[in-house]
Amino acid sequence: MKKFFLACVAILSLGNARADEGMWIPSLIGKNYDEMVRLGLKLTKDDLYAINHSSLKDAIVQFGGGCTAEMISPSGLLITNHHCGYGSIAALSTVEHNYLDNGFWSHSMAEELPAEGLSVIYLQNIEDVTDEINHATRRSTGEKYQKKLNETIEKIEKRANQNGKLVANVKSYFNGNQYLLLTYKRYTDVRLVATPPKSLGKFGGDTDNWIWPRHTADFSMFRVYADSNNEPAAYNATNKPYRPKWYLPVSAKGVKDGDYTMIYGYPGRTNRYEISGGVELSINETNPDIVRLRGERLGIMKRHMDADKSVYLKLTSRYAGIANYWKYFIGQTEQLKRLHVVEEKRNNEAEFTRWAGNNKEYRGLVNRYNNIYNTYQPYARSATYYGEAFRASGLASIAAALEPLATAYEKNNTSADTISKYIKALEATRKSYLKIYDPATELDLLAFTARAYYQDVPKGQLPAIYDQVIFRKFNAGNMDSTFARYARYVTGNTFLIDSNLFKAFVAAPSLEKIQKDPAAEYAISFVRNYKKSIQPRYEAFNNKKAEYSKLYLKGLMEMNKGQLMYPDANSTMRITYGQVKGYYPKDGVYYEPFTTSKGILAKYKPNDDEFDAPKELIDMIRAKDYGRWMSPDSTVHTCFITTNDITGGNSGSPVINANGEWVGSAFDGNWEAMSGDIAFDKKYKRTIVVDARYVLWLIDKLGKAENLIEEMNVRY
Ligand code: ARG
Repeated sequence: MKKFFLACVAILSLGNARADEGMWIPSLIGKNYDEMVRLGLKLTKDDLYAINHSSLKDAIVQFGGGCTAEMISPSGLLITNHHCGYGSIAALSTVEHNYLDNGFWSHSMAEELPAEGLSVIYLQNIEDVTDEINHATRRSTGEKYQKKLNETIEKIEKRANQNGKLVANVKSYFNGNQYLLLTYKRYTDVRLVATPPKSLGKFGGDTDNWIWPRHTADFSMFRVYADSNNEPAAYNATNKPYRPKWYLPVSAKGVKDGDYTMIYGYPGRTNRYEISGGVELSINETNPDIVRLRGERLGIMKRHMDADKSVYLKLTSRYAGIANYWKYFIGQTEQLKRLHVVEEKRNNEAEFTRWAGNNKEYRGLVNRYNNIYNTYQPYARSATYYGEAFRASGLASIAAALEPLATAYEKNNTSADTISKYIKALEATRKSYLKIYDPATELDLLAFTARAYYQDVPKGQLPAIYDQVIFRKFNAGNMDSTFARYARYVTGNTFLIDSNLFKAFVAAPSLEKIQKDPAAEYAISFVRNYKKSIQPRYEAFNNKKAEYSKLYLKGLMEMNKGQLMYPDANSTMRITYGQVKGYYPKDGVYYEPFTTSKGILAKYKPNDDEFDAPKELIDMIRAKDYGRWMSPDSTVHTCFITTNDITGGNSGSPVINANGEWVGSAFDGNWEAMSGDIAFDKKYKRTIVVDARYVLWLIDKLGKAENLIEEMNVRY
């Protein structure tokens, strides 16, 4: 009886419009407005999102494709997380001018540093195109449906992009039950303005990552530039600071327990409506596989990075990304188990089945949906290893770009256009990997990944290269020596890395040269094996999943008619609202909702990789040199937590108070709720935020960049 009651509560709570859980669509936020006001919001509906005039949403950008940032001045100044700017900061750093280690504070616009390859996009419009898509796809099913769907999406995007002036994306919401067209303007002249040293921007390192209580100054600042008409333009010294349609005033007043908080941003992906069988596969197989492989890869990279500062600068951003999700999957697995998410899902599914009764559409759906995971399970490891092992070698990834070219030659499909298309793709792939390519590290990564794939993937699913080449020609008696020997041979004899050899190939490409290249031989064997025996199963699984998950969600919406539901994150702008709030991580322990400068001193370890801090800052804390950023408790508040619902992609999102002011930058989630992308746990789930006053204090006292504080609209 109790179980049944709990199941009902869990299902119903999917749909209630209320604080914390929910990543809401900005153009439909009106439906949540009364609830937001009840919690303290002072702004009008139109301030939040409007089509005919500017509104808060115009201050928010997607930053560099995977993060969020917000405008905080009338002159294009933006703030995001340090870990979002990390790649650009590292790329701008050299052993001599090491901005990553030492920080960077520009005291005039002339000092700002163009960040190559970085761009931001501004949302222009959201339009519902569900009817058009449903109409176009109404007579197709299965693979034909997918094809028709993709064609229709492409057509709509093409129509909306104004001859390439705008970025246009059609995105699926509610697992394909709704489609929205989003248009954006992309600005590509973005320059580094300020960053604290890494010791502060990443204070606590991987040890503190995903953990509360936290003391990280996870922010960096950039400026967007535009042409003389305020329109996007490639980098040019004569470009002008972009004038945003909206920017956020900055509050130096701080937040209190219970205060209203709202977050706008670009959450990447959640799987809240995942079926229990999918969660089980993650817990039992996929997550442990990813964690094991990443752990080894990180060990290899770290060895080389620690030995050479220039290698460190080259690899550190990639390392951080791998480490971030290594720990993520450890935490997700642990919390999915601790919070009994599979059982909870099973209860919800049983309730759905009872509700469905004899309804023709939904009868048996839960079983069918769960079963696709059983069918797919024997191939899951191959698919994981293809991405996390084979593709983890930079050389293999570059070489894989030769496969389409080889196929074109083999099929005599050798028109100049075709060949040049594939050569261009190869050049682009090579260029992006060479930025993070260290030969000695790559040698070890290739040996490790080739070996891991061989040892862990079911024998019947291995590419032919193992029998035909590796063990036939390089067998050295034991695994270690065999794979080391093979990796040395491949890296030492490929034309793909050395620029002269590569140039010679591009000048006169041929099938024969590809066939003679050992890296190409290795990669092509993997790619073709994958295409032949894994990909078709993966695609069949995904097509079924698309079909069943759409139907399941349609059913859930019918079952919860009259209640507001939110769609899974899909890298489009969302709003979440909640409040500042502490929590009990375990029995008898309470976590305050904020941390202070005192905690920096407590964690401080001079010269440590993770807990070092500039001596200057430590002295300031000891002297209580906090200036106007001090709290009544005679500290500077460093971070705080809220109940807002965010995920990866929200990094850098503004945390906004009831008056529409910026009070901090969201940068992490907490350990006890790492299962959050699959099931939101109201009791434990928190967003970790760097406090505006910590940011302002560092800009002021460490960076001595009064110019930036002047430029913002700081409210005291
Ligand atoms: N866990 C954070 C996120 O995914 C990233 C934190 C980066 N910091 C670090 N120490 N790795 O948003």
